[in-house]
Amino acid sequence: MKRLIAMIREDLHNAREHDPAARGDVENAIVYSGLHAIWAYRIAHALWVRGFKTPARILSQATRFFTGIEIHPGATIGRRFFIDHGMGIVIGETTEIGDGVMLYHGVTLGGQVLTQTKRHPTLHDNVTVGAGAKVLGPITIGCGSAIGANAVVTKDVPDNHIAIGIPAKNRPRKENECLKLVDPDRYVAGTFEI
Ligand SMILES: CC(C)(COP(=O)(O)OP(=O)(O)OC[C@H]1O[C@@H](n2cnc3c(N)ncnc32)[C@H](O)[C@@H]1OP(=O)(O)O)[C@@H](O)C(=O)NCCC(=O)NCCS
Repeated sequence: MKRLIAMIREDLHNAREHDPAARGDVENAIVYSGLHAIWAYRIAHALWVRGFKTPARILSQATRFFTGIEIHPGATIGRRFFIDHGMGIVIGETTEIGDGVMLYHGVTLGGQVLTQTKRHPTLHDNVTVGAGAKVLGPITIGCGSAIGANAVVTKDVPDNHIAIGIPAKNRPRKENECLKLVDPDRYVAGTFEI
């Protein structure tokens, strides 16, 4: 129980850190569909790994109905995961996500083949995926990297790179660029300094 409360508090704190529009924890807990999807995923995943696969899928699909966010209960997701805006998000069964990852609406972490193998991406710690981006296949997105809005990524992205376009091209982050991506309230509020 203590662990559960600690996890909920961490998720609420994370929402405040990642969204400059976030206000009080109570309001955020009620209105953020991204948080609802993550909490439902954590329950569905616990059921999935204990062998209750059908209830896990039912919970996952019910959550999709209410939030527009479909996270397969078999996916592996770390701590401080945040989904901003939600809606139109698909996270496939063999996806692996590290800690501190953030997705915007319209993101697909999908497969390219129909075989029951590792067919979805692996996102390492502190990756950000922009709105509408599609990350396809069993590729790896390195630590601290970002995927630009609407990019289609089908090849590995190294650590601390930015992938933009269709097909996505990688470039190293500029100096200090990570600050801009992990701490949006600093630039949205106009206080960001390089
Ligand atoms: C990819 C991203 C992180 C790059 O940020 P950045 O390094 O500050 O990029 P810049 O603004 O300096 O742009 C560099 C160049 O890439 C282009 N570019 C930036 N983002 C792009 C994208 N997603 N797709 C295609 N081109 C893009 C810019 O037009 C610019 O082109 P130019 O050199 O010809 O002028 C950012 O543009 C992005 O897509 N972030 C996702 C944000 C998001 O999804 N927000 C949703 C909020 S609701």
